[in-house]
Amino acid sequence: MRRNIVAGNWKMNKTFEEADDLLFNIADPLKEMDLDLTQVILCPPVLYAEMFTDIALENNFSVGAQNCSNHAEGAYTGEISAAMLKSMDIEYCLVGHSERRKYFNEDSKMLAEKVDQLLENAISPIFCCGEALEEREANTHFEVVGKQLYDGLFHLTAEELDNVIIAYEPVWAIGTGKTASPEQAQEMHAFIRSLIAKKYGQDIADDTTILYGGSCNAKNAKELFALKDVDGGLIGGASLKAEDFLAIIKSF
Ligand code: PGA
Repeated sequence: MRRNIVAGNWKMNKTFEEADDLLFNIADPLKEMDLDLTQVILCPPVLYAEMFTDIALENNFSVGAQNCSNHAEGAYTGEISAAMLKSMDIEYCLVGHSERRKYFNEDSKMLAEKVDQLLENAISPIFCCGEALEEREANTHFEVVGKQLYDGLFHLTAEELDNVIIAYEPVWAIGTGKTASPEQAQEMHAFIRSLIAKKYGQDIADDTTILYGGSCNAKNAKELFALKDVDGGLIGGASLKAEDFLAIIKSF
């Protein structure tokens, strides 16, 4: 179902005490906010999940993980399965973030398997896609993003896709302070929606939530969220400052 979403990706930041502080500074004001039309998702380091899920409902947010295994269970030392996430009341999980693709060599086959694991466990994948700088400069960005979607997501049925959120994150904009221009963001989001329409039909495409990520902050969120095909943001750096993150949530 299409809706306005602001998701905070804390990445590998914050010790337990620091996370506790930041959570309080976000969750307390959130409780008082009228969020009928906006959903907030926090994706902290999964080790702290319980501290978040314990207070999520009464504080108007949902909890997401940043990663899960592509396997169901077994001898995979260090891994965390989708079933484990589900058993900790986690409702969302990032898949295919560019940092995982790049530093952990996650390929399309593995990402498609992760998506399947999550859906089998009733967790909504937040599927990330986006081109590198060289790919944009070579004018292959549409091709690259299209392939990421075909390879990682388009094996799903329409019913399954309904539980997926897509996040377009140009790699050159992540953590760089260099945001995509409104024109670049709208153009790519419209392209992504058109691919969904081609494969699944216009109704499904119109019903899909597509977030923008990459140096989205309290200053530029309003302009980005006002774009026709941008349904919110996946926020990294600015989700680590309560004041900025709350300002982004108020940007719709
Ligand atoms: P950023 O990160 O907001 O710090 O650019 C976004 C992301 O990686 O999801």
